[in-house]
Amino acid sequence: MIITDKFSRKLRDIRISVTDRCNFRCSYCMPKEIYDSNYKFFKKSEILSFEEIIRVTKILASFGVKKVRLTGGEPLLRKNIHLLVSELKKIKEIQDISMTSNGVLLSEKRAELLKDSGLNRITFSLDSLNDKRFQEISGSKYSSKDVLEGIANAKKAGFENIKINMVVKKNINDNDIIPMLEYFEGSGCIVRFIEFMDVGNVNLWDKRDVLILDDIIDIISKRYSIKSLQGNYKSEVAKRWSYAGGEFGIISSISKPFCGECSRVRLTAEGKLFTCLFASRSYDIKNLLRSSESDSSISNYLLDLWSERDDRYSETRMNQDDYKIIKKAEMSYIGG
Ligand code: GTP
Ligand code: 5AD
Ligand code: SF4
Ligand code: SF4
Repeated sequence: MIITDKFSRKLRDIRISVTDRCNFRCSYCMPKEIYDSNYKFFKKSEILSFEEIIRVTKILASFGVKKVRLTGGEPLLRKNIHLLVSELKKIKEIQDISMTSNGVLLSEKRAELLKDSGLNRITFSLDSLNDKRFQEISGSKYSSKDVLEGIANAKKAGFENIKINMVVKKNINDNDIIPMLEYFEGSGCIVRFIEFMDVGNVNLWDKRDVLILDDIIDIISKRYSIKSLQGNYKSEVAKRWSYAGGEFGIISSISKPFCGECSRVRLTAEGKLFTCLFASRSYDIKNLLRSSESDSSISNYLLDLWSERDDRYSETRMNQDDYKIIKKAEMSYIGG
């Protein structure tokens, strides 16, 4: 059965955060000052088991979900994550399983295990190739070379269509845009520049820090001749271009939002469902899963929840100053 929301949007994707923990402290996501040694991450008993995640995904798959993306925090911090992948792979409706990772924990062995378990794609977060900036932004002691090694391991294991996510902040890493495109020329990897978003409440988002799509295109056009490409699919978040080195993309949630086709639901590690990245409200699925509710009663609950959905936060945020006052979920919790 295909279900639609108040704006006739279908439910097609689920983004599953498998842990709220991360080995990085990116300033725009988990600022060090907040996520310090006193921060209370979830205990193991509080987060959904693989069986619980599979149960929810199976129900959602019967409503039209075809794509699964595993996120975090850092998904590779979740032990035996490949076992979750192989179980997800068994759900016949699911056509694409991907992961968004910072990559530094992706050893050769782990990449092979994930590939063999049926993971289709990996997207890596990498904000600068310059180590000083990389460490400042990621709040870690790793080198960008550690991420590049993870990418190389993914390639060795046979992953294709690798994407590289670079969150761009004005006057922080705008000088890294061209080096990033140059580095990945001819590699087959697709670099995507992401406008810094007002996710959550702790990253001190300010619109003056956002380098918007038009500015990014200006910078790139001075160095490369570029051509705009058709979208791959309706609900794609990135706009695409070709350049001498292959393809790149821009994710412009701030300057050119894409709520019109949004088909994504998000499941947090502790079992809350969100129908928008910026929603204040969530739905407690863990409680239902851990009670004696049947699959059909959980199905009805999910059906109602999606039919009531009217989120279009990115399209309305610029008309108001809501982003300053609305309580929103943090990126490492909701999974991006
Ligand atoms: P594919 O197109 O399947 O490769 O995945 P993706 O680009 O949707 O996933 P990825 O995790 O790489 O996300 C890229 C960026 O887009 C991240 O910064 C996400 O937070 C952001 N993003 C993903 N979905 C949405 C969305 O529904 N709304 C907004 N505003 N941002 C989103
Ligand atoms: N704005 C834009 N992108 C962000 N990400 C994390 N926080 C933000 C933010 N505030 C990106 C990460 C990762 C993806 C899931 O989301 O870099 O690649
Ligand atoms: Fe970790 Fe990704 Fe958040 Fe950076 S953006 S702190 S790598 S979850
Ligand atoms: Fe979807 Fe919300 Fe993002 Fe709009 S802001 S695209 S409704 S998740």
